[in-house]
Amino acid sequence: MKHRIASILLLVLLLPLVALTPTGGRIPSYAQHGMVVSASTIASEVGRDILKKGGNAIDAAVATAFALAVTWPAAGNIGGGGFIVYRDHQGKVTTFDFREKAPLAANAKMYLNEKGELIDELNHTGLLSVGVPGTVAGLYQAHAKYGKLPWAKLVQPAVELADKGIPISYALNQQAKNMRKTWEQFPSTMAVMYKGDKSYYEPGETWKQPELAKTLKRIKKNGRDGFYKGETAEKLAAFMKANNGIITTQDLEQYQAVERKPVEGTYRNVKVFTMPPPSSGGTALVEMLNILEGYDLKALGYKSADYIHVLSETMRRAFADRAEHMGDPDFNPDLPIAKLTSKEYAARLRKTITMDLASASDSSRYGQLYEGTSTTHLSVVDEQGGAVSLTYTLERSYGSQVVAEGLGFFLNDEMGDFNPVPGVTRTDGLIGSEPNQIKPGKRMLSSMTPTILEKDGKLFMVIGAPGGRTIINTVLQVILNVVDHDMNIAQAIEAPRIHHQWLPDRLNFELYGLSPDTQEKLKIKGHNINELNHNMQGNAMGIIVIPQSGLRSGAADSRSADGGVAGY
Ligand code: GLY
Repeated sequence: MKHRIASILLLVLLLPLVALTPTGGRIPSYAQHGMVVSASTIASEVGRDILKKGGNAIDAAVATAFALAVTWPAAGNIGGGGFIVYRDHQGKVTTFDFREKAPLAANAKMYLNEKGELIDELNHTGLLSVGVPGTVAGLYQAHAKYGKLPWAKLVQPAVELADKGIPISYALNQQAKNMRKTWEQFPSTMAVMYKGDKSYYEPGETWKQPELAKTLKRIKKNGRDGFYKGETAEKLAAFMKANNGIITTQDLEQYQAVERKPVEGTYRNVKVFTMPPPSSGGTALVEMLNILEGYDLKALGYKSADYIHVLSETMRRAFADRAEHMGDPDFNPDLPIAKLTSKEYAARLRKTITMDLASASDSSRYGQLYEGTSTTHLSVVDEQGGAVSLTYTLERSYGSQVVAEGLGFFLNDEMGDFNPVPGVTRTDGLIGSEPNQIKPGKRMLSSMTPTILEKDGKLFMVIGAPGGRTIINTVLQVILNVVDHDMNIAQAIEAPRIHHQWLPDRLNFELYGLSPDTQEKLKIKGHNINELNHNMQGNAMGIIVIPQSGLRSGAADSRSADGGVAGY
């Protein structure tokens, strides 16, 4: 109550400042103390309550991530992996890499038939597509080092959500309907996602997940060991063995998350902290920002043909580098991150961009493999100004589509993010280059780009998004919208986006995203433009700390069905 009255008073006092920021119809949510934004309003509220109880940003992110594993099982997970970028309230920034690893029995040709061809879907559906999960290890390690509240307090809300049940949202109901044909192959999935008589949970009905609750209780009690040892690990390994999967108790016991230094850059008046490899996202983001810094983007005009041209030419170049160089740093010690993120390199690339003509993507270099468009992101700012940007994933929506029997959670299909056919590269998107080939214990390349921006030495923005390779371009455009086009966080997230990823050589734009005359001008420049049949390029979740007032302003992308902001 005290908090609420204080917040209302502060908002009234600061209303003139809020009103001065251009809003143009899209208005963020504001909070005075702390804020959580995620793909599930229920999970955001869990995180907000942890902040209210004195938890810091790491505590709230851990609680929100566990809650999302219950409320948004398409991507919220304990059976997948991801990344955290953390800035403490004094400005120290670090990252946690809890990306999945290839099992010890994996090998570079495990998805090929005897002719050396990729067996359709084998690296994306079913138990062979599962990487050793990293989420619980990553959350545990981040909390052990930087958390404030007891671990059990952070897992408990997720236990309760799974035990007592959540109301089925329209989105969850629709997903269960759409996925039925695939899930019918997997009895353990059917048992969790449908009622006993295999009918659907309808919107508003309560969905309980008792097996997941039991798994979460073991994690609550035993921490990391509640997942990687004992009953959970043994049941998972037995399920694998009985169904031709290859993950063993040894794989689980050996899994380690890693704390890594962030990739850093500057863009005009902001400092950028983002994720290093095995994410390709942070490096590509800084490379693109460096190139774009050489243009007066505001003067080009938001969404003008010239603006879209410069953006897509920049994307083309960064994605070509991504394909050529990126992989797990523990297996590729010489990744050229310093070069790719340097201003000098960007200046060289900028010189290769001409305003009149789109360049061609040189398909004789390296192609790229398919990457799923699922994943989920959450952003947190705490009362002291600590912040977490967390993106984690099962790869595709619902990962391998398989629920671990008796454990209640979906297993990822992250092995599909490795280059599946060594040495074979095609313009349709298959890549065979060495840095991202499968090896036992190796992490697969990712595009996840959790990012934190600083302005004048203070926390400014927390941002991230799902969407496979589109993630990098989504995060880029939200940053440009704020820094160059003075949008507030809600406007910046809502604005239509474009995507170019070098190969295939196509400039995608969201439905209704470009006017016909802009499209015409882009065609004249030689762009192969492609209007998507949806306006769903990722769903970004972001927070800006307003410099003048310190107010937290946040927005959950309206592209997200169940997303929401919770602040206090
Ligand atoms: N599986 C999506 C990513 O890691 O980028």
